[in-house]
Amino acid sequence: MREYTPENITDVVLEQMATTPDPRMKEIMEGAVRHLHAFARDVNLTPGEWIKGIEFMTKVGQMCTPARQEFILLSDTVGLSALVNIMHDKTKMEEATGASLLGPFFRENTPKFENGAKIADAGKGGSELVLFGRVTNAKGEPLPGAQVTVWQTAADGRYDIQNSLEEIDCRGIFRADDKGNYLLRTVRPLGYYIPLDGPVGQMVMAQKRHGKRPAHIHFLISAPGYRELVTALYLAGDEHLEDDVVFGASGDLVVEVKASDPASPVKGVPSVHFDFSLARESEADRRAGRVGADPGQVTAGNGKPTGPYGAPPPEMLAAEKEKKGGILGGLFRK
Ligand code: BEZ
Ligand code: FE
Repeated sequence: MREYTPENITDVVLEQMATTPDPRMKEIMEGAVRHLHAFARDVNLTPGEWIKGIEFMTKVGQMCTPARQEFILLSDTVGLSALVNIMHDKTKMEEATGASLLGPFFRENTPKFENGAKIADAGKGGSELVLFGRVTNAKGEPLPGAQVTVWQTAADGRYDIQNSLEEIDCRGIFRADDKGNYLLRTVRPLGYYIPLDGPVGQMVMAQKRHGKRPAHIHFLISAPGYRELVTALYLAGDEHLEDDVVFGASGDLVVEVKASDPASPVKGVPSVHFDFSLARESEADRRAGRVGADPGQVTAGNGKPTGPYGAPPPEMLAAEKEKKGGILGGLFRK
Protein backbone atom coordinates (compact mmCIF):
# COMPACT_ATOMS: atom_id res chain seq x y z
CA MET A 1 0.00 0.00 0.00
CA ARG A 2 1.13 3.53 -0.86
CA GLU A 3 2.60 5.74 1.84
CA TYR A 4 1.94 9.45 1.83
CA THR A 5 4.83 11.90 1.87
CA PRO A 6 4.95 15.69 1.64
CA GLU A 7 6.22 15.17 -1.91
CA ASN A 8 3.51 12.79 -3.22
CA ILE A 9 0.35 13.89 -1.36
CA THR A 10 -0.54 16.62 -3.88
CA ASP A 11 -0.51 14.24 -6.85
CA VAL A 12 -2.51 11.64 -4.91
CA VAL A 13 -5.25 14.20 -4.21
CA LEU A 14 -5.28 15.44 -7.82
CA GLU A 15 -5.55 11.84 -9.04
CA GLN A 16 -8.62 11.23 -6.88
CA MET A 17 -10.26 14.47 -8.02
CA ALA A 18 -9.59 13.68 -11.68
CA THR A 19 -13.12 12.24 -12.00
CA THR A 20 -14.66 15.76 -11.76
CA PRO A 21 -16.94 15.99 -14.83
CA ASP A 22 -17.15 19.79 -15.09
CA PRO A 23 -13.88 20.81 -16.81
CA ARG A 24 -13.77 24.35 -15.36
CA MET A 25 -14.48 23.12 -11.83
CA LYS A 26 -11.72 20.52 -12.32
CA GLU A 27 -9.25 23.17 -13.45
CA ILE A 28 -10.08 25.53 -10.57
CA MET A 29 -10.03 22.87 -7.85
CA GLU A 30 -6.78 21.35 -9.13
CA GLY A 31 -5.15 24.78 -9.13
CA ALA A 32 -6.49 25.51 -5.64
CA VAL A 33 -5.18 22.22 -4.23
CA ARG A 34 -1.79 22.63 -5.92
CA HIS A 35 -1.33 26.16 -4.58
CA LEU A 36 -2.70 25.36 -1.10
CA HIS A 37 -0.32 22.45 -0.73
CA ALA A 38 2.59 24.51 -2.06
CA PHE A 39 1.71 27.25 0.44
CA ALA A 40 1.66 24.79 3.38
CA ARG A 41 5.01 23.32 2.32
CA ASP A 42 6.48 26.77 1.67
CA VAL A 43 5.74 28.16 5.15
CA ASN A 44 6.07 24.74 6.84
CA LEU A 45 2.58 25.12 8.31
CA THR A 46 2.21 23.59 11.81
CA PRO A 47 -1.01 21.94 13.11
CA GLY A 48 -1.49 24.86 15.53
CA GLU A 49 -1.23 27.39 12.71
CA TRP A 50 -3.55 25.31 10.52
CA ILE A 51 -6.29 25.31 13.19
CA LYS A 52 -5.78 29.04 13.78
CA GLY A 53 -6.43 29.55 10.08
CA ILE A 54 -9.56 27.37 10.29
CA GLU A 55 -10.77 29.36 13.32
CA PHE A 56 -10.19 32.60 11.44
CA MET A 57 -12.14 31.47 8.37
CA THR A 58 -14.92 30.21 10.67
CA LYS A 59 -15.18 33.65 12.29
CA VAL A 60 -15.24 35.28 8.85
CA GLY A 61 -18.23 33.12 7.91
CA GLN A 62 -19.97 33.68 11.23
CA MET A 63 -19.68 37.45 10.75
CA CYS A 64 -21.69 37.39 7.50
CA THR A 65 -25.28 38.64 7.61
CA PRO A 66 -27.68 39.86 4.90
CA ALA A 67 -26.09 43.30 5.40
CA ARG A 68 -22.47 42.26 5.78
CA GLN A 69 -20.15 40.18 3.64
CA GLU A 70 -16.95 39.54 5.61
CA PHE A 71 -15.61 37.10 2.97
CA ILE A 72 -15.69 39.83 0.32
CA LEU A 73 -13.92 42.11 2.79
CA LEU A 74 -11.24 39.45 3.29
CA SER A 75 -10.84 39.05 -0.46
CA ASP A 76 -10.58 42.86 -0.76
CA THR A 77 -7.95 43.29 1.95
CA VAL A 78 -5.64 40.61 0.55
CA GLY A 79 -5.90 42.12 -2.95
CA LEU A 80 -7.75 39.14 -4.45
CA SER A 81 -10.78 41.22 -5.50
CA ALA A 82 -8.47 43.79 -7.11
CA LEU A 83 -6.55 41.05 -8.95
CA VAL A 84 -9.69 39.40 -10.32
CA ASN A 85 -11.04 42.83 -11.26
CA ILE A 86 -7.89 43.92 -13.10
CA MET A 87 -7.61 40.60 -14.94
CA HIS A 88 -11.25 40.85 -15.99
CA ASP A 89 -10.82 44.47 -17.08
CA LYS A 90 -7.98 43.45 -19.42
CA THR A 91 -10.38 41.20 -21.36
CA LYS A 92 -12.47 44.16 -22.64
CA MET A 93 -13.13 44.13 -26.40
CA GLU A 94 -12.17 47.81 -26.70
CA GLU A 95 -10.73 50.72 -24.72
CA ALA A 96 -13.21 52.10 -22.19
CA THR A 97 -13.32 53.45 -18.63
CA GLY A 98 -11.37 51.28 -16.20
CA ALA A 99 -13.02 49.20 -13.49
CA SER A 100 -12.72 49.48 -9.72
CA LEU A 101 -14.05 47.43 -6.82
CA LEU A 102 -17.77 47.05 -6.23
CA GLY A 103 -17.05 46.70 -2.50
CA PRO A 104 -19.34 45.23 0.15
CA PHE A 105 -21.84 48.10 0.30
CA PHE A 106 -23.59 47.72 -3.03
CA ARG A 107 -27.26 46.77 -2.76
CA GLU A 108 -29.86 45.90 -5.37
CA ASN A 109 -32.53 47.79 -3.47
CA THR A 110 -31.74 51.31 -4.71
CA PRO A 111 -34.23 54.10 -5.46
CA LYS A 112 -34.65 55.56 -8.95
CA PHE A 113 -34.27 59.31 -9.49
CA GLU A 114 -34.73 61.83 -12.30
CA ASN A 115 -31.55 63.44 -13.65
CA GLY A 116 -30.49 66.34 -11.43
CA ALA A 117 -31.97 64.88 -8.22
CA LYS A 118 -30.25 64.85 -4.83
CA ILE A 119 -29.36 61.47 -3.34
CA ALA A 120 -28.11 62.65 0.06
CA ASP A 121 -30.32 63.09 3.10
CA ALA A 122 -30.15 66.85 3.74
CA GLY A 123 -30.54 66.25 7.48
CA LYS A 124 -27.09 64.67 7.70
CA GLY A 125 -25.21 67.76 6.49
CA GLY A 126 -22.01 67.50 4.44
CA SER A 127 -20.63 69.71 1.67
CA GLU A 128 -22.72 69.73 -1.46
CA LEU A 129 -21.34 68.22 -4.63
CA VAL A 130 -22.59 67.94 -8.21
CA LEU A 131 -21.61 65.00 -10.41
CA PHE A 132 -22.09 65.31 -14.14
CA GLY A 133 -20.82 64.01 -17.46
CA ARG A 134 -21.65 61.73 -20.36
CA VAL A 135 -22.00 58.02 -20.91
CA THR A 136 -20.69 57.03 -24.34
CA ASN A 137 -19.48 54.04 -26.27
CA ALA A 138 -15.79 53.55 -27.10
CA LYS A 139 -16.17 55.81 -30.16
CA GLY A 140 -17.50 58.64 -28.00
CA GLU A 141 -21.08 58.29 -29.23
CA PRO A 142 -23.72 58.94 -26.54
CA LEU A 143 -25.61 56.06 -24.95
CA PRO A 144 -29.05 57.55 -24.21
CA GLY A 145 -30.91 55.72 -21.45
CA ALA A 146 -27.75 54.13 -20.00
CA GLN A 147 -28.42 53.19 -16.37
CA VAL A 148 -26.14 54.94 -13.87
CA THR A 149 -26.22 53.52 -10.34
CA VAL A 150 -24.31 55.47 -7.75
CA TRP A 151 -23.55 54.87 -4.04
CA GLN A 152 -21.21 56.43 -1.51
CA THR A 153 -20.68 57.29 2.14
CA ALA A 154 -22.94 59.89 3.70
CA ALA A 155 -21.60 62.97 5.48
CA ASP A 156 -20.83 60.84 8.54
CA GLY A 157 -18.41 58.67 6.57
CA ARG A 158 -20.68 55.60 6.66
CA TYR A 159 -22.75 53.74 4.10
CA ASP A 160 -26.49 53.55 4.86
CA ILE A 161 -26.37 49.73 4.97
CA GLN A 162 -23.91 49.92 7.87
CA ASN A 163 -26.63 51.54 9.96
CA SER A 164 -29.52 49.23 9.05
CA LEU A 165 -30.99 47.26 6.17
CA GLU A 166 -33.92 49.69 6.08
CA GLU A 167 -31.95 52.94 5.78
CA ILE A 168 -31.46 54.20 2.22
CA ASP A 169 -29.22 57.23 1.73
CA CYS A 170 -26.56 58.39 -0.71
CA ARG A 171 -27.45 55.89 -3.38
CA GLY A 172 -29.60 56.12 -6.49
CA ILE A 173 -30.27 54.93 -10.01
CA PHE A 174 -30.31 57.49 -12.84
CA ARG A 175 -30.76 57.28 -16.61
CA ALA A 176 -28.59 59.17 -19.09
CA ASP A 177 -30.68 61.62 -21.15
CA ASP A 178 -31.02 61.58 -24.95
CA LYS A 179 -27.54 63.08 -25.33
CA GLY A 180 -26.00 60.56 -22.91
CA ASN A 181 -25.73 63.11 -20.09
CA TYR A 182 -26.12 62.26 -16.42
CA LEU A 183 -26.42 64.76 -13.58
CA LEU A 184 -26.90 64.31 -9.86
CA ARG A 185 -26.45 66.14 -6.60
CA THR A 186 -24.92 64.62 -3.53
CA VAL A 187 -22.49 65.44 -0.71
CA ARG A 188 -18.74 65.15 -0.78
CA PRO A 189 -17.81 61.60 0.25
CA LEU A 190 -15.23 61.07 2.97
CA GLY A 191 -12.36 58.65 3.22
CA TYR A 192 -13.19 55.98 5.77
CA TYR A 193 -12.08 52.94 7.70
CA ILE A 194 -13.28 49.70 6.19
CA PRO A 195 -15.26 47.69 8.78
CA LEU A 196 -12.58 46.77 11.32
CA ASP A 197 -14.87 45.37 14.02
CA GLY A 198 -14.65 41.77 12.76
CA PRO A 199 -12.01 39.12 12.06
CA VAL A 200 -10.78 40.89 8.92
CA GLY A 201 -10.26 44.06 10.98
CA GLN A 202 -8.26 42.03 13.50
CA MET A 203 -6.05 40.78 10.69
CA VAL A 204 -5.57 44.31 9.28
CA MET A 205 -4.71 45.70 12.72
CA ALA A 206 -2.35 42.80 13.51
CA GLN A 207 -0.53 43.75 10.31
CA LYS A 208 -0.31 47.38 11.52
CA ARG A 209 -2.09 48.65 8.39
CA HIS A 210 -4.04 51.91 8.58
CA GLY A 211 -7.28 50.28 7.41
CA LYS A 212 -8.58 53.20 5.31
CA ARG A 213 -9.96 53.81 1.84
CA PRO A 214 -9.57 57.16 0.09
CA ALA A 215 -12.76 59.20 -0.50
CA HIS A 216 -14.64 57.82 -3.51
CA ILE A 217 -18.00 57.44 -5.22
CA HIS A 218 -19.07 54.09 -6.68
CA PHE A 219 -20.70 53.73 -10.10
CA LEU A 220 -22.30 50.79 -11.86
CA ILE A 221 -23.17 51.70 -15.44
CA SER A 222 -24.98 49.57 -17.96
CA ALA A 223 -26.58 49.79 -21.38
CA PRO A 224 -27.95 47.00 -23.59
CA GLY A 225 -25.19 45.45 -25.73
CA TYR A 226 -22.38 46.91 -23.59
CA ARG A 227 -20.20 45.39 -20.87
CA GLU A 228 -21.40 46.46 -17.45
CA LEU A 229 -18.96 48.94 -15.91
CA VAL A 230 -18.28 48.66 -12.18
CA THR A 231 -16.06 51.52 -11.16
CA ALA A 232 -15.48 54.36 -8.71
CA LEU A 233 -14.16 57.91 -8.84
CA TYR A 234 -11.51 58.86 -6.29
CA LEU A 235 -11.14 62.44 -5.08
CA ALA A 236 -7.77 64.06 -5.80
CA GLY A 237 -5.85 65.13 -2.73
CA ASP A 238 -6.89 62.26 -0.46
CA GLU A 239 -3.94 61.08 1.62
CA HIS A 240 -4.66 57.41 0.92
CA LEU A 241 -4.86 57.37 -2.87
CA GLU A 242 -1.54 55.50 -2.99
CA ASP A 243 -2.13 53.05 -0.15
CA ASP A 244 -5.81 52.13 -0.31
CA VAL A 245 -6.32 49.22 2.11
CA VAL A 246 -8.28 47.33 -0.58
CA PHE A 247 -6.13 48.31 -3.59
CA GLY A 248 -9.02 49.84 -5.55
CA ALA A 249 -7.86 53.42 -6.20
CA SER A 250 -6.22 53.82 -9.58
CA GLY A 251 -4.76 56.91 -11.28
CA ASP A 252 -7.17 56.97 -14.26
CA LEU A 253 -10.12 57.27 -11.87
CA VAL A 254 -8.88 60.22 -9.78
CA VAL A 255 -11.04 63.35 -10.21
CA GLU A 256 -10.73 66.97 -9.13
CA VAL A 257 -13.56 68.70 -7.30
CA LYS A 258 -13.85 72.08 -9.04
CA ALA A 259 -15.22 75.01 -7.07
CA SER A 260 -16.85 76.59 -10.12
CA ASP A 261 -16.62 74.67 -13.38
CA PRO A 262 -18.23 76.70 -16.20
CA ALA A 263 -19.33 73.37 -17.77
CA SER A 264 -21.33 72.36 -14.69
CA PRO A 265 -25.12 72.55 -15.21
CA VAL A 266 -25.50 73.62 -11.55
CA LYS A 267 -23.87 76.94 -10.71
CA GLY A 268 -22.43 77.85 -7.33
CA VAL A 269 -21.89 74.26 -6.14
CA PRO A 270 -18.55 72.40 -6.34
CA SER A 271 -18.62 69.74 -9.01
CA VAL A 272 -16.94 66.70 -10.50
CA HIS A 273 -17.04 66.16 -14.26
CA PHE A 274 -16.40 62.63 -15.53
CA ASP A 275 -17.30 61.02 -18.84
CA PHE A 276 -17.71 57.26 -18.76
CA SER A 277 -17.23 55.06 -21.80
CA LEU A 278 -18.51 51.51 -22.13
CA ALA A 279 -16.98 48.71 -24.19
CA ARG A 280 -19.19 46.52 -26.34
CA GLU A 281 -20.22 43.32 -24.62
CA SER A 282 -18.76 39.98 -25.68
CA GLU A 283 -20.23 36.52 -25.13
CA ALA A 284 -17.57 35.92 -22.43
CA ASP A 285 -18.59 39.18 -20.67
CA ARG A 286 -22.13 37.88 -20.30
CA ARG A 287 -20.83 34.85 -18.40
CA ALA A 288 -18.12 36.58 -16.31
CA GLY A 289 -20.23 38.20 -13.57
CA ARG A 290 -19.26 41.00 -11.20
CA VAL A 291 -16.43 41.14 -8.70
CA GLY A 292 -18.56 41.64 -5.59
CA ALA A 293 -22.22 41.34 -4.76
CA ASP A 294 -25.11 42.64 -2.72
CA PRO A 295 -24.52 40.91 0.64
CA GLY A 296 -28.26 40.29 0.94
CA GLN A 297 -28.12 38.21 -2.26
CA VAL A 298 -25.14 36.14 -1.09
CA THR A 299 -26.02 35.63 2.56
CA ALA A 300 -29.49 34.24 2.99
CA GLY A 301 -31.18 35.42 6.19
CA ASN A 302 -29.48 33.58 9.04
CA GLY A 303 -31.28 35.17 11.95
CA LYS A 304 -28.32 37.33 12.83
CA PRO A 305 -28.74 40.95 13.81
CA THR A 306 -28.14 43.38 10.98
CA GLY A 307 -27.49 46.32 13.27
CA PRO A 308 -24.92 49.06 12.90
CA TYR A 309 -21.43 47.85 12.09
CA GLY A 310 -18.03 49.02 10.99
CA ALA A 311 -17.28 51.65 13.64
CA PRO A 312 -13.49 51.85 13.92
CA PRO A 313 -12.20 50.27 17.15
CA PRO A 314 -11.42 52.83 19.89
CA GLU A 315 -7.68 52.06 19.79
CA MET A 316 -7.53 53.04 16.09
CA LEU A 317 -9.33 56.29 16.84
CA ALA A 318 -7.06 57.04 19.80
CA ALA A 319 -3.95 56.43 17.67
CA GLU A 320 -5.32 58.65 14.92
CA LYS A 321 -6.17 61.39 17.38
CA GLU A 322 -2.66 61.30 18.77
CA LYS A 323 -1.20 61.50 15.28
CA LYS A 324 -3.35 64.35 14.01
CA GLY A 325 -5.02 65.98 16.97
CA GLY A 326 -8.59 67.30 16.81
CA ILE A 327 -11.83 65.97 18.30
CA LEU A 328 -12.45 63.31 15.66
CA GLY A 329 -8.79 62.56 15.23
CA GLY A 330 -8.98 63.01 11.46
CA LEU A 331 -11.53 60.22 10.96
CA PHE A 332 -13.82 62.38 8.93
CA ARG A 333 -11.45 64.23 6.67
CA LYS A 334 -12.67 67.11 4.55
C1 BEZ B 1 -15.90 50.25 -0.46
O1 BEZ B 1 -15.46 50.83 -1.39
O2 BEZ B 1 -16.93 50.64 -0.06
C2 BEZ B 1 -15.17 49.11 0.12
C3 BEZ B 1 -14.49 48.27 -0.71
C4 BEZ B 1 -13.83 47.19 -0.16
C5 BEZ B 1 -13.87 46.98 1.21
C6 BEZ B 1 -14.54 47.85 2.04
C7 BEZ B 1 -15.21 48.93 1.49
FE1 FE C 1 -16.82 52.42 -1.05
